[in-house]
Amino acid sequence: MSEGHIPRQFIDDLLVRVDIVDLIDAHLPLKKTGANFVARCPFHTEKTPSFSVNRDKQFYYCFGCGASGNAITFLMEFNRLDFVEAVEDLAAFVGVDIPRESVSERSSPQKKDDLNTLYQLMEKVTAFFTEQLHAKEGAVARDYLRARGVGEQVMRDYRLGYAPDAWQALSGQFNKQALLDTGLSIKNETGHVYDRFRGRIMFPIRDKRGRIVGFGGRVLDDSTPKYLNSPETPLFHKGREVYGLYELLKKNSKPARILFVEGYMDVIALAEFGIDNAVAALGTAASQAHVELLFRFSAELVFCFDGDRAGREAAWRAMDAVFPCLRDGRQVRIMLLPQDEDPDSLVRKEGVERFGARMREADVLSDYFFAEASKDLQLTSIEARAQLFGKVRPYLEKLPAGIFRDMMLARLKTLSEASHLDVLQNESTISRSIISPRAKGRITSARMAIALLVQNPELAMCPELQEIDWNTLTFPGVELFRHIVQTLLALKPANSAVLLESYRDSADEKSVKALAFLDLQVSDEDVETVFCDALVKLRIQSAENELERLLSKKVLTPDEKESLRRLYAIISALKK
Ligand code: UTP
Ligand code: MN
Repeated sequence: MSEGHIPRQFIDDLLVRVDIVDLIDAHLPLKKTGANFVARCPFHTEKTPSFSVNRDKQFYYCFGCGASGNAITFLMEFNRLDFVEAVEDLAAFVGVDIPRESVSERSSPQKKDDLNTLYQLMEKVTAFFTEQLHAKEGAVARDYLRARGVGEQVMRDYRLGYAPDAWQALSGQFNKQALLDTGLSIKNETGHVYDRFRGRIMFPIRDKRGRIVGFGGRVLDDSTPKYLNSPETPLFHKGREVYGLYELLKKNSKPARILFVEGYMDVIALAEFGIDNAVAALGTAASQAHVELLFRFSAELVFCFDGDRAGREAAWRAMDAVFPCLRDGRQVRIMLLPQDEDPDSLVRKEGVERFGARMREADVLSDYFFAEASKDLQLTSIEARAQLFGKVRPYLEKLPAGIFRDMMLARLKTLSEASHLDVLQNESTISRSIISPRAKGRITSARMAIALLVQNPELAMCPELQEIDWNTLTFPGVELFRHIVQTLLALKPANSAVLLESYRDSADEKSVKALAFLDLQVSDEDVETVFCDALVKLRIQSAENELERLLSKKVLTPDEKESLRRLYAIISALKK
């Protein structure tokens, strides 16, 4: 292995970090039965499933054939990889780079806290905090929680705790380096180490396997900051974890819907009322990783935001994370609460029934999205419709292909009365007409047009090519395209070979040769049609680019507005 040794520690950490259930599930769908996940064994033929994966043990075992092992073994056996390849695949699955250690580094063993030690510390600290909550120290915190209506059961379920109001409560009893590595302690400039969380109610944040990866901590009065969160650490990545997921899955591993709320206390209050399908972000906006994570456990997500302006803005910001995840079969609803309410206050005020009804009746994403996007716009004017189009388009482009995407596009089309929208629909409509059914790979219109031209020099004479306004054409390769057209018109070569000869030793020789040998799979009688289609598409794309540039401007000059109208006209004429 020329790249150096993969550090043992790294491999071990990888096996701690990965969830074998996710890994195997990605290769062969697993079903949950009791504590295990099962499937028909991939290593021998069988009718009933005896292949079983255990999340706690991070191990699989087949009762039929005895195949067994950890995540690495699984990859080696299932994908027939050698050890190093399996580790590489696993690292890629987990999303980390493999550090390669040089021989010299290996001979000086580093004393580094491995992840396991850190997880163990988090566990011990949580036990300490919960013990403190029930000790004399924690009476204030317990009173506070009781005053907010949190009962003993919920305190236990969520392992709520109390960090005593002292500088050295943790550093006096646990390993200092590990405390620093987990963000529980802070070191000041003078090298003094002290506890990060002091005099706060502690909310342990667990990953979906139940390991404690971080904490949130709330003050008991009006001082600031109201909440402190663990910093990013080797265990804790805010953008990937959500509060309450482990607790939720423990109650119900396949919830019909998951409610995404803004605060720790919202999750706690809802749980107190028996609504135990709520999770919260950790003082950050919802990320795409959050949304993907939650969709693994439920097909419906309800995003709940406070009714104030900040809440409404957060709702709109969440669209960035949501849109790329909206494959068919997944549903998102948006639930905006009345002014000055959060789920905690509302469920107490209105009760579970009303709150549950709000949840079920929350706006479906499409209604919310278009209402929000066209808010403040008078859609009778062409400018407003153009604005709507400009606002909505970047989102719709992020939607995965599917029925939902098509329906959202259809709705935009109705709202903005934009007849040229089909160009957005996706490549398929046009490329299908360009490339014959036999075509395998996808070829861009530009490549198609240039290659057809190189392979069929007589196309240079086609009238559609004379019509082109070269100043408005913008796409990668347009220079070469134009140069070839000019060469063909000047040279009038009998065949491609002649054209090629004229490019010998020029900078473009290689490109032109490649285009000449490109297998386009277009039959002779289709050449002209396909070429013209590609030209139309290139012209539409160029006009679209210009349109987009104008739409992204805040203020349009009268000339630009005129261009906008002209572009719409061009596009719809070309689309006929
Ligand atoms: P909120 O202030 O809405 O929290 O902040 P909340 O849950 O309603 O808190 P209570 O009811 O006053 O106890 C929502 C979330 O934003 C993060 C926390 O994750 C909090 O749960 N936040 C808020 C912080 O990280 N730091 C802060 O200072 C405030
Ligand atoms: Mn609140």
